[in-house]
Amino acid sequence: MIAPDLATAISELRGLIAGAQSIIPFTGAGISTECGIPDFRSPGGLWTKNRPIPFDDFMTSSEMRTESWRQRFVLEESFAQAQPGRGHRALATLYHAGKIPALVTQNIDNLHQASGIPPQDIVELHGNTTYALCLACATRYELSWVREKFEANGQHAPDCTCGGYIKTATVSFGQAMPAEAMQRAEELTKRCDLFVAVGSSLVVWPAAGFPLMAKRNGAALVIVNRESTEFDELADLVVRHDIGDVFAPFIGN
Ligand code: APR
Repeated sequence: MIAPDLATAISELRGLIAGAQSIIPFTGAGISTECGIPDFRSPGGLWTKNRPIPFDDFMTSSEMRTESWRQRFVLEESFAQAQPGRGHRALATLYHAGKIPALVTQNIDNLHQASGIPPQDIVELHGNTTYALCLACATRYELSWVREKFEANGQHAPDCTCGGYIKTATVSFGQAMPAEAMQRAEELTKRCDLFVAVGSSLVVWPAAGFPLMAKRNGAALVIVNRESTEFDELADLVVRHDIGDVFAPFIGN
């Protein structure tokens, strides 16, 4: 059912949440747009301004590593000042009310952590852009350190002391998905009785497979997204309204 209006959407969502034992939110970039972080595929989104840098290009070209870091530092102002939005805060409320055992996100902006959900209950399928790792020895580097080196040596990406390449802790196209996160997301998806996809175009696999997996394992499926997705016919409830407006009534004090 596509909710005919916002009030009906909220009432239907409230009923599904009340009746659920285990709710798994599955979030995408749309939950963070009201926080000042653009999504990827909407008009003006990140992929309309930058071409995503495939992992192989990052590994084989120092120019691509430099371009990758240049793009990341251009975004630093938006990421650094972003605060959790109404969607993040509502999901944190439901988590602390015991309705959500853990949350699966495609987002890399750390806003679910900032909303008060403990990191161990946030499954990041595409990693996290608020810190960096050496791809060879997995040493962690803070972005401030990388930026200082980047700017000191004429906008060239610094390498790790071990000689490995340093990259934000995100998963690029062509890079292996994090096995542990995928495994945990699968377990959570198969065990939940309500799966709520929030702010995702559901076009990037394997992440986009989780709503289907939830439905196939008997969960009710809700899709909250401004635009239609290819999974809408599968959903028990489709809400094509602003995420913040939909979730504001679920924010606790
Ligand atoms: N309210 C409702 N929907 C919104 C809002 C909002 N305030 N803002 C954006 N949206 C919707 C857009 O209409 C869009 O369909 O959120 C969706 C975001 O889709 P994408 O930009 O494709 O982002 P996402 O689905 O998270 O992308 C998945 O692709 O590029 C990779 O790794 C990247 O994790 C990302 C993955």
